[in-house]
Amino acid sequence: MELLEIESNIHNSARQGEAYAPIGSEFFGFKKYFYIESYGCAMNFSDTEIVASILNANGYGATKNLEEADLIFVNTCSIREKAEATVRKRLTEFRKLKEANKEVLVGVLGCMAERLKTKLLEEEKLVDIVIGPDSYRSLPALIEMAESGQKAVNVLLSREETYADISPVRLDSNGVSAFVSIMRGCNNMCSFCVVPFTRGRERSRDTFSIIAEATNLFSKGYKEITLLGQNVDSYYWYDDAKAYAVTFADLLEKVALINPELRIRFSTSHPKDITDDVLLVMRKYENVCKHIHLPLQSGSTRVLQLMNRTYTREWYLAKVDRIRELLPECTITADIITGFCTETEEDHQDTLSAMEHSGYEMSYMYFYSERPGTLAAKRFEDDVPLDVKKRRLQEIVDMQGKLSTQGNLNDIGKTFKVLLEGNSKKSEFDWTGRTEQNKSVVFPKNETPFKKGDYVWVKIKDCTRATLLGEIVV
Ligand code: SAH
Ligand code: SF4
Ligand code: F3S
Repeated sequence: MELLEIESNIHNSARQGEAYAPIGSEFFGFKKYFYIESYGCAMNFSDTEIVASILNANGYGATKNLEEADLIFVNTCSIREKAEATVRKRLTEFRKLKEANKEVLVGVLGCMAERLKTKLLEEEKLVDIVIGPDSYRSLPALIEMAESGQKAVNVLLSREETYADISPVRLDSNGVSAFVSIMRGCNNMCSFCVVPFTRGRERSRDTFSIIAEATNLFSKGYKEITLLGQNVDSYYWYDDAKAYAVTFADLLEKVALINPELRIRFSTSHPKDITDDVLLVMRKYENVCKHIHLPLQSGSTRVLQLMNRTYTREWYLAKVDRIRELLPECTITADIITGFCTETEEDHQDTLSAMEHSGYEMSYMYFYSERPGTLAAKRFEDDVPLDVKKRRLQEIVDMQGKLSTQGNLNDIGKTFKVLLEGNSKKSEFDWTGRTEQNKSVVFPKNETPFKKGDYVWVKIKDCTRATLLGEIVV
């Protein structure tokens, strides 16, 4: 049986005392094995690592082999209809496995569990366990309930839970980059978005536990951490003992100071909340990567208002200009939704021109998918026909293609400090890594003595639309 990261978990528990020592952890003693798949955003992926840690601590070992699993979990996403459809298809496949082996238990975790509550469990009888994102500590108890044939559901949302004390088991890790969750939930009410309903109120994690986790990762050889939250710029934690508040800019500085060799990234920034203080910390510390993910959603003020994004086109573009002024080397990426309720051709043109002004290196682009229960679903008609949504999306994708190519061509001739991540996908004779700006670079090894996790200076010679191609400069 192939076990995931058990060794590192034992290592963790040795550092942290008995709290997370897997019961009977000496490689032979797991009582059962679980298989887990993650869908959706980085936060969900990070949650999966927390779930793995809770399960390990309770005597369950992780396996990559589905056939050998006693427990199958899917950490799910509800952000668009398509995301839910993908998970449903997967659950149907798992049900077939269950028919072959009645002992296997299937559990739905995360945002879809929250949204569909008992529907999956009782009406469709697709799964045995349903557990929302704030209830993972109760998973071992729910497994026992399901084993004894009871309904196992916990979808309570919390105002406090941050899993601050849990040291995540790093799953599928390259040993170089890791996610560190700094907050949960979201207090914004973007009218299209299901997240405030599936993840609950925003709450920030204790600063000390974040610093401790990041320091621990660095001591284990990790070289890059990404601070995660739906809206990192509204991070706010009050230190009662010292009676002072920690803002996101303060936190970023504290993490940057752990070690200059540790690269820091963060995601996601809301254009209304990212402050000059954050930009100035980015400028001050070389190890805070010069890349900002700044979702636009729409370039039309009228549509932004309907989306309840609380900024205008002009505010957004001024933010981009400020970033360019303070951080000339910084790349900006975005999320864009096309075909939101009432969107006209003129609004669509506004989105294209905002993209051009902002010069995104990359974007995640979607057409609007109505989500039940959201403000938009209640208030507005989803009135842009699908073929129009698809055509506009294609125009947005084409615009992004043009911008990405331009961005990459601009890099030719420049030299970047690249964090080496491993062999390139296409050839074992090439390395792959990323620049501070979050761009992938592929370059020949040429028998140089480098290894994964090293920083290497690379001069860019050529590019494709998605990748820079370079050579090591010594
Ligand atoms: N917290 C982040 C985004 C989280 S969701 C932010 O504020 O930007 C990731 C992206 O999914 C969003 O930025 C948005 O572009 C997209 N998205 C969210 N709801 C959607 C919907 N109903 N239809 C299409 N795309 C959606
Ligand atoms: Fe959703 Fe808006 Fe919150 Fe992002 S900021 S998670 S888009 S509600
Ligand atoms: Fe999806 Fe939930 Fe993340 S809806 S995008 S998994 S917060």
